[in-house]
Amino acid sequence: MPHSAAELVDRLGAMSIERAWDPYTSFDWPESLDPEAEYYMSPELMSLYGTEAYEALNETDRKRLSFYEINNFFSFVLLGERPVVGGMTERMYRKDTMGPITDYLHHFIDEENKHMVMFSLFCNRYLGRIYPEKKLAIDREMAPGEEDLVFYCRVLIVEELGDVYNRKMQEDSRINELVRQINEFHHRDEARHLAFGRAWAAELFERHTQDWSPAQLERFQDWLARYFASSWTDFYNPSVYRDAGLAGGYQLRQEAIAHPKQRAFRAEASDKLVRFFLKHGFLKEAPAL
Ligand SMILES: [Fe+2]
Ligand SMILES: [Fe+2]
Repeated sequence: MPHSAAELVDRLGAMSIERAWDPYTSFDWPESLDPEAEYYMSPELMSLYGTEAYEALNETDRKRLSFYEINNFFSFVLLGERPVVGGMTERMYRKDTMGPITDYLHHFIDEENKHMVMFSLFCNRYLGRIYPEKKLAIDREMAPGEEDLVFYCRVLIVEELGDVYNRKMQEDSRINELVRQINEFHHRDEARHLAFGRAWAAELFERHTQDWSPAQLERFQDWLARYFASSWTDFYNPSVYRDAGLAGGYQLRQEAIAHPKQRAFRAEASDKLVRFFLKHGFLKEAPAL
């Protein structure tokens, strides 16, 4: 491994201080946004992109859909960040995180809180609400250290998938400028979080799974494959389609999830993280996404 997490966090923490920003003042927040005035999400990133239903939409319909899709994406990231802040807070100042790791967790939490402020300012002001999430609770016995691994894998999935969208949209001059900037600011912080998350999760995986039985490892790998796939389904939200004025939201969701173009997109967007999970043994085979 190129860097241990402890080596990495010194540099990441210094960058956090140097690049600090404020969600209230770093952007011009207009009073309102007109959903039909422009694109709010890159068309290629919209969950219906490539489907027959999408092809049938006119330009205005597509713009309006993109407004609800971006609110869904921001809601997904925001609600994914909430347990990150909770989980990081619980994990600070523990025996195994004392010192540089905890020093860095302060930055991580600080930045995630700013992200939640930023996304909730957007969704609450322009949509009037946050799209709720549907998460599966785990009710099984955990192997030693498994709870930490489950936690960091969830963090990696929400951050890695979110970052695929951030990186594409930060460069997209076709979309609303505020949305573009939000993606840019988020990506800058997330690049550090992902570097830390990968290094730290890999170390914890080595440390904890040494003592696991093959059955315990397999149960974890099965959970991760299913969790990864289920995270993707949050992107196909019937409420978004309904709010955008499209009929048959649930049907649209099923068609989009099954569509070959969407499958190919999910596989490509997940590729980097899947390779990381395979390399370190978190997964034994690429999951069906
Ligand atoms: Fe974030
Ligand atoms: Fe993050």
